[in-house]
Amino acid sequence: MAKLSIHTDEKKSKISRNIYGNFSEHLGRCIYNGIYVGENSDIPNVNGMRTDIVEALKAIKLPVLRWPGGCFADEYHWKDGIGPKETRKKMVNTHWGGVVEDNAFGTHEFLEFCRQVGCEPYINGNVGSGTVQEMSEWMEYMTFDGVSPMADLRAKNGHAEPWKVKYFGVGNENWGCGGNMRPSYYADLYRRFQTYVRNYGDNRVFRIACGPNSDDYNWTEEVMRIAGNYMNGLSLHYYTVPGTWEKKTAATGFDTNMYYETIRKALYMEELITRHTEIMSRYDPEHKVGLIVDEWGTWYDVEPGTNPGFLYQQNTMRDAIVAAVTLNIFNAHSDRVVMANIAQLVNVLQSVILTEGEKMVLTPTYHVFDLYKHHHDATLLNSHLETEGVYAGVPNLTVSASEDENGVVHITLANISADTAYPIDCALTGKKYNTASARILTNSIGAYNDFDHPEDVNITDFDALTLENNNLHFNIPACAVMEITVS
Ligand code: AHR
Repeated sequence: MAKLSIHTDEKKSKISRNIYGNFSEHLGRCIYNGIYVGENSDIPNVNGMRTDIVEALKAIKLPVLRWPGGCFADEYHWKDGIGPKETRKKMVNTHWGGVVEDNAFGTHEFLEFCRQVGCEPYINGNVGSGTVQEMSEWMEYMTFDGVSPMADLRAKNGHAEPWKVKYFGVGNENWGCGGNMRPSYYADLYRRFQTYVRNYGDNRVFRIACGPNSDDYNWTEEVMRIAGNYMNGLSLHYYTVPGTWEKKTAATGFDTNMYYETIRKALYMEELITRHTEIMSRYDPEHKVGLIVDEWGTWYDVEPGTNPGFLYQQNTMRDAIVAAVTLNIFNAHSDRVVMANIAQLVNVLQSVILTEGEKMVLTPTYHVFDLYKHHHDATLLNSHLETEGVYAGVPNLTVSASEDENGVVHITLANISADTAYPIDCALTGKKYNTASARILTNSIGAYNDFDHPEDVNITDFDALTLENNNLHFNIPACAVMEITVS
């Protein structure tokens, strides 16, 4: 019996809906043959954007989408991606497979995709190979409402009205693919570049600085010391890589040991956030700067026979558990973590959607984002869970609980154990609750959906729970993620 208590009268931070964000890069089949198929495609689309993908993302209420990279961002020159498509400049995508990028998907297309999905755009600017003027003009092009060279150019390209663009990243991984800089050099560049990322009219920009690579605490220290007063957010990148960067492992067909090892590595996010937050709090005790985990997720070998530069991988129940435990960590730290963007949206790394021609599958990870969507902008509740270890430092269960604006409580619980179900005794304190319902995602650790079996792993209603005198009782099966709703 595992004991869980939810203290509904002990309210904590607001869980920003942006924690449930995603990331789309010009990489492999994320954009082309992913979200964008072009207006002339036989695949149903609106202005070139796949309708089935747009609808699937609306269903999980995707709040924010980062673009155009990633490493691609610091090689991207936005003016190459505007104007008539036939005259747009072609370039080599040197990072990702050396393929020709014809710039058919640019600023107008990205903002159109966000409009259709109903999510906020998060644009990542180019510091590594770009200029201050180029970055400054991009913001003017997108958001200035008046007469100016860039606003006039935007109108000439068919969009007289300015867009709203709140989230703007000043460089990506500038410690690596974004220029191999040292932190003090980047921090000074950041101060300079961000000066010219202007607020036009009522468009207030939330400026995000390039933060550390996983446990590079010195980067956080230096960038916060030199530039902390000039930013709204600092990014953190951490990938769960079973094996090593040089020798990764397969996305499917793994054993139980590899499963637990993957979850152990995913749970390292807790230590990373805690330690980076400690540093940030020394320079920013008032939490004015948010931690933005704008790249996270699993990274395996590519699927056999696919382009190694395209990073296409399958997605199993193991990925669902990684997503569930990571999102529970973000919720727990929502006083500092104000945005996160899993990598990446479609057909790349830990994707929520995979496509093949006109076929589309929703991955186990997608279903976790569905189970967690009621945490968006809800208030985190204090909770306590008794756990036991199932593998080196890996607990059997993790949880989050929140209260939405109508007073409804949503609990997300993950059972990490590969083979053991647990009876749960959950006490709710605070006020009287009368009804409870639940949904569940459960299967064997290696189960996945593919184009012939798109619904093998899916959410089902879970009726085997009781609520008596504010006590919930149920059994959570092995390798499962649940959402429990109490009102
Ligand atoms: O998501 C794939 C790549 O991982 C991104 O382009 C880069 O920022 C990171 O190293």
